[in-house]
Amino acid sequence: MIIEDKNVDYSILDRKGFIDTEPDPSLDLFAEIEKIKKEKNAVILAHYYQESDIQDVADYIGDSLGLAQNAVRTPADIIVFAGVHFMAETAKILNPHKKVIMPDSKAGCSLADSCPPALFKKFKEENPGHVVISYINCTAEIKALSDIICTSSNAIKVVESVSVDTPIIFAPDKNLGRYIEKKTGRKMVLWNGSCMVHEIFSLEKITKLKHRHPNAKVIAHPECEEPVLHIADFIGSTTGLLKYSQEDSANEYIVATETGIIHQMQIKSPHKTFIPAPPDNLCACNDCPHMKRNTLEKLYISMLYELPEIIMEKELLEKARLPIERMLDISARAGL
Ligand code: 13P
Ligand code: SF4
Repeated sequence: MIIEDKNVDYSILDRKGFIDTEPDPSLDLFAEIEKIKKEKNAVILAHYYQESDIQDVADYIGDSLGLAQNAVRTPADIIVFAGVHFMAETAKILNPHKKVIMPDSKAGCSLADSCPPALFKKFKEENPGHVVISYINCTAEIKALSDIICTSSNAIKVVESVSVDTPIIFAPDKNLGRYIEKKTGRKMVLWNGSCMVHEIFSLEKITKLKHRHPNAKVIAHPECEEPVLHIADFIGSTTGLLKYSQEDSANEYIVATETGIIHQMQIKSPHKTFIPAPPDNLCACNDCPHMKRNTLEKLYISMLYELPEIIMEKELLEKARLPIERMLDISARAGL
């Protein structure tokens, strides 16, 4: 649904409402983007899985928690969210009166898609009396059905904030859920969802790679499956993995998460070697196809035309805000 804004040129949209134009190839997009940022008082928030060019023009690069915290703090009038839809939606929920745009509105998430709201509502009804903790990688509808949201960097603190005699439903990522169960000793009712990127890593190929690089440490995101987490030397959110790679004394790392993060790892530790963990398929690629829908060209076009904009129903937006605010409070109290 698009609310008409008289300052916006909708003629660039095709019949389905998607952007149908490209920038002039002779333009210096880096310079043009900087110019628009100043003219429109816009801020670019980007996730670590974005392509390198986007990371290089971003004002803030971070994990899901850092991005949500920055979305609250920013004095900018326009938030340009270079990430996937649930992230831009979260920024809008936290800033209902600001314009939030993203380079490609089709940038979704397999994990968010694995938890349809109607089925999740039924699942909740089948498990009455549970506190619902949902990973931020879910739709606004799921957030509205949840009590507290968490990210990979605060999930342990969020689960620990619930009294031990209260049963918990954890959705939608079963791998993160199992990992949190192990770390906290709390048994939870898990929704059976997962991320297509983190599920694809091959334990066999990582083990062979380890033989060829005996000094390399395996660092993994908790969305990975249990056998990969089992052999990991360090497990953490994208920010956690980046920080570990900077502070740790090893010189080589096998990185079991989306490859975009390696750009920042390499910038922060130019003398170290980062090897993407091999996936269990024939191509050597573990890029997130959703994150990688965003390009520098689409970023420029979205800023120029202020489209596509995140538009949400007021009622949904308000229902989804409280569980996110609870997460931000718990994180602030924990110093995260
Ligand atoms: P974090 O960056 O919060 O660790 O999340 C990873 C992810 O899969 C985002 O889609
Ligand atoms: Fe979703 Fe996985 Fe892509 Fe993150 S990496 S956006 S969880 S599909």
